Amino acid sequence: MSLVQEEMQSVELLMRSQAEDRHPDLESVLNHLLSSGGKRIRPIVALLSGRMLNADPERLVKLAAAIEMLHTATLVHDDLIDGAILRRGIATINSQWSPAATVLTGDFVFARAAKLAAETDSVTLMRLFAETLAIIVNGELTQLFLSRRVASRENYDQRIYAKTASLFELATTAAALLSPVSEEVVEKMRCFGYAIGMAFQIVDDILDFTGDQANVGKPVASDLRQGLITLPALFYLEANPDNPDLNQLLSENYLSETQISRLVGAIRQSGGIQRSLEVAQAYISQGRQCFDSFPDNPHRQALDDLARYIVERDF
Ligand code: IPE
Ligand code: IPE
Ligand code: MG
Ligand code: MG
Repeated sequence: MSLVQEEMQSVELLMRSQAEDRHPDLESVLNHLLSSGGKRIRPIVALLSGRMLNADPERLVKLAAAIEMLHTATLVHDDLIDGAILRRGIATINSQWSPAATVLTGDFVFARAAKLAAETDSVTLMRLFAETLAIIVNGELTQLFLSRRVASRENYDQRIYAKTASLFELATTAAALLSPVSEEVVEKMRCFGYAIGMAFQIVDDILDFTGDQANVGKPVASDLRQGLITLPALFYLEANPDNPDLNQLLSENYLSETQISRLVGAIRQSGGIQRSLEVAQAYISQGRQCFDSFPDNPHRQALDDLARYIVERDF
């Protein structure tokens, strides 16, 4: 992180300047949102990747800001869709504003993300950026329209790719596109971003069972409550195919609060958590292998540390 601290400060300033001279409520809500924290992991990944590969510094900062803005916009809309009241430890926009105002705020952030991406002056990058947003939205729609809950590993992998790994993939690929490197290196960076993105989401899904709200900054045990079967639940189902709560969730899509707590407790104590962690760790090793052949330098080392942090974090 300290290796890209300066660049990260420029990213923060650039993001905050995006709402200047707009509607005062929009300006204040965006300032509030951006100052509420967030791990900033996607821009850090983009910056470290770019610095490792000698990307053009100014364009790299635009890219990092564009990616975090895109992420922020999806969260604004996602919290409205999910009816979430807490994000990054503070009240969500949808809990305070009307759906209309929330949608428009998200749209504004999307527009700013696109503008920042355009400022990298790379049409290839812009195309990837738009394609990634399409993947994310298609994934969310698929999840929304699923009438019966699907409990399969294939479905799970597709879902976490769409919602999370695709954006990590964009962060590393786009950083490589702004660097003087061969197509082969761009592909290796894509491979790395994909792997750490998959691991990141698996850990997010584990934390939904094992984390506490104060650390995570959003309510926990929310996936089952939304009827979402994530990897720990999948492994639990595999070992306990007759569990009545889980089967009711799959067939009727409804569980009482008592059933939810019981099921969360059972999954938390099951081997499903450890097995999920092992899958995440395997993705991290896969990610490391993607840039096996890269020269050793401090930025590469930092990306390595970051990959480890992804599976060790508790927030
Ligand atoms: C939350 O992402 C949404 C997911 C895709 C899991 P993060 O966990 O990176 O959220 P912030 O940006 O740190 O708040
Ligand atoms: C958020 O998805 C990620 C996107 C909108 C792409 P979720 O609804 O699963 O994540 P949280 O739990 O709200 O962060
Ligand atoms: Mg959500
Ligand atoms: Mg959601």
